[in-house]
Amino acid sequence: MQQLSVRHLLGIKNLTENDIQLILDTAREFKDVINRPIKKVPSLRDITIANVFFENSTRTRLSFELAEKRLSADVVNFSASGSSVKKGETLLDTVNNILAMKVDMIVMRHSSPGTPHYLSGRIKANVVNAGDGTHEHPTQALLDSFSIQDKLGDVAGKRIAIIGDILHSRVALSNIFCLQKQGAEVMVCGPTTLIPKYIGQLGVKVSHDVREALSWCDVANVLRIQLERQQIKYFPSLREYSLYFGINKKMLDELDRPIVLMHPGPINRGVELTSDAADSHHSIILDQVENGVAVRMAVLYLLAQL
Ligand code: CP
Repeated sequence: MQQLSVRHLLGIKNLTENDIQLILDTAREFKDVINRPIKKVPSLRDITIANVFFENSTRTRLSFELAEKRLSADVVNFSASGSSVKKGETLLDTVNNILAMKVDMIVMRHSSPGTPHYLSGRIKANVVNAGDGTHEHPTQALLDSFSIQDKLGDVAGKRIAIIGDILHSRVALSNIFCLQKQGAEVMVCGPTTLIPKYIGQLGVKVSHDVREALSWCDVANVLRIQLERQQIKYFPSLREYSLYFGINKKMLDELDRPIVLMHPGPINRGVELTSDAADSHHSIILDQVENGVAVRMAVLYLLAQL
């Protein structure tokens, strides 16, 4: 049986091309499983997984929990609000207390970049990064690649434009690594203030013109403006952002070739996307969410074999 080269899923940066392929191939098998009348397999029976979330989440948290349950794992959920973290307990003490209850795997979301990396060097359990601040969101990038494969047959040779708040986005960085490792071309597009200065060193094209990005790409992956991570104003107003960088259905319909529209969620309707674009035939946004369960099943299953 093929195995991953890593014990923890901390980011896409440290995955090999074979790791990515193995996860996507395994996810394809699990997608068949979850479309059967009986959606559950016993693969992780007797494995206990804790979902430790220090930041808000809808999709990632529910998707991991469903993936764990479909694999017959035992699941416990922890959120920082309402926990003893509020009484001053350290992150490591909190996690070690969870592990003392015979937990085998930690799925963690945290607002500080590098938190899962810090933990992985200090605990025995496998660690899965479910988003660390503005750094990486590896399972989102994997489910995005899986969804592109599903829609277009392959990721290699495709042109993907990532449009929006690149500066504060963990989805952007993980997607850049994941898409490039699979042979796609990547462009980032947004206002100058929301594109990191040195992003060109990652080998991506840069545009500040959303129409140019849409004309260039096969897939537009549109990102949310992350106001909660912005301590200063990066653009004059949301209305102005939407005027210059917002995407509507007419812009997509007028392109001279098909385009696939993606968004990791949550969407700010009327800001980065109008509702008629988000809900149009171009959009695979809910397919991304569906595919997330199969991809997370694959990640958990493969890590549990190590
Ligand atoms: N895509 C994503 O990470 O969404 P949530 O914040 O709802 O988990």
